[in-house]
Amino acid sequence: MRRTVEKGKTLLVDGPASVSLLSGETEILGAKFREGERVVIRDGKRLPFEASKKAAFDLRLGENASFKEIDGTTIPISWENAFKEVVSQERPVTVMVMGGVDSGKTSFCVYLANRSLRDGWKPAVIDGDLGQSDIGPPSTIGFSRVTKPLKDLFEMEAENACFVGVTSPSLAVNRVVERLTAIKSKVLQRDVDFLIVNTDGWIEGEEAVGYKVALAERVAPDVVVGIQQTNELAPILTLVKEKRRVIAMESPQVIRKRNREKRKTLRELGYKKYLKEAKMRLFPFNQVRVEDALSETVGRLVMEQIEAMEKGLLVALQDAEGDFLGIGVLCGVDHRRGGIRIHTPVGENVSTVCVGQVKLDRVGREIGLSPVFEQKPSELSQTKIQSKT
Ligand SMILES: Nc1ncnc2c1ncn2[C@@H]1O[C@H](COP(=O)(O)OP(=O)(O)OP(=O)(O)O)[C@@H](O)[C@H]1O
Ligand SMILES: [Mg+2]
Repeated sequence: MRRTVEKGKTLLVDGPASVSLLSGETEILGAKFREGERVVIRDGKRLPFEASKKAAFDLRLGENASFKEIDGTTIPISWENAFKEVVSQERPVTVMVMGGVDSGKTSFCVYLANRSLRDGWKPAVIDGDLGQSDIGPPSTIGFSRVTKPLKDLFEMEAENACFVGVTSPSLAVNRVVERLTAIKSKVLQRDVDFLIVNTDGWIEGEEAVGYKVALAERVAPDVVVGIQQTNELAPILTLVKEKRRVIAMESPQVIRKRNREKRKTLRELGYKKYLKEAKMRLFPFNQVRVEDALSETVGRLVMEQIEAMEKGLLVALQDAEGDFLGIGVLCGVDHRRGGIRIHTPVGENVSTVCVGQVKLDRVGREIGLSPVFEQKPSELSQTKIQSKT
């Protein structure tokens, strides 16, 4: 369908849809969207196309997709001001973005990346949102340098990632704090001078506040930007403010909220992105270590534990340097050949298989969390003995 938008107006498109620009000039979250370009909007996502000149679009709308036109821009003036304040800091700058679910965190990260890139900075994004991750697969903290304008963080492939093994930060508070801190120093060694750290939307309650304050303290960004609808970040920002520079700003009015089901579907797209072209591979036990990603100290698993692992568990594969190679889905132990079978697109040499808690079915749908590692090896053998008798 063809649609024309006058200069100064914004077309909001809700996916699933694909949009191309036939003529004119537009911008998406600080990135130019030029004639002939096309962008895909996933189900549950919305993109704003700001017409800087009269623009004509070709819209292809999927099921339940929609669009509307509004006057002016959807970028709050506070976003623009926050960007200016962040770039007034000395290089390299690290900015941490906080906010509740559906507050606009990811979109603001995209905006910061695009604006900084345009001004000649070398931006990178660390995606610390385990559940609604865009860069790495869900349950990982991924990062990537930004070398071209972005419409969506999901476009980026992780340069490296760290597997946490759960999609909810409340199950892994210390690990997220530690891993994010470690990744930040790694990324800053890579010719990056504008580091954007996205975080998850868990902000309510004492535990969440403690966690976010610890994140700000340990990762030590130069600026913490809090996006809020009203004043919901106050408990966090008041404490963070004691030690760091804080900018509080408002959520855009045009936010598209997602329910649990949509969030799950978006997460599943995240697994799919990293399981494309997966094949069955056997990893012999004399070549790989199998580790429990959930143990605070990363514990090697013993045979009894490996055997107790359920089919469908999400795993991460690492090379000898501990770098992330990709994810896979556990298919079982091959006793005859002495190894573990994993469905994965990773083709490289693998040294470590890290086992998480997320369980997927055969087509990559999330079916819950596995409780197996809550049991110690001694308890596992106990269960076995009992079930034999
Ligand atoms: N300035 C904006 N203009 C138009 N749409 C926006 C804007 N900011 C956010 N949105 C839309 O609102 C929805 C929610 O925003 P976004 O994904 O950035 O929030 P989030 O806080 O990262 O959410 P989550 O908690 O799921 O990670 C998205 O579909 C996004 O495209
Ligand atoms: Mg997000």
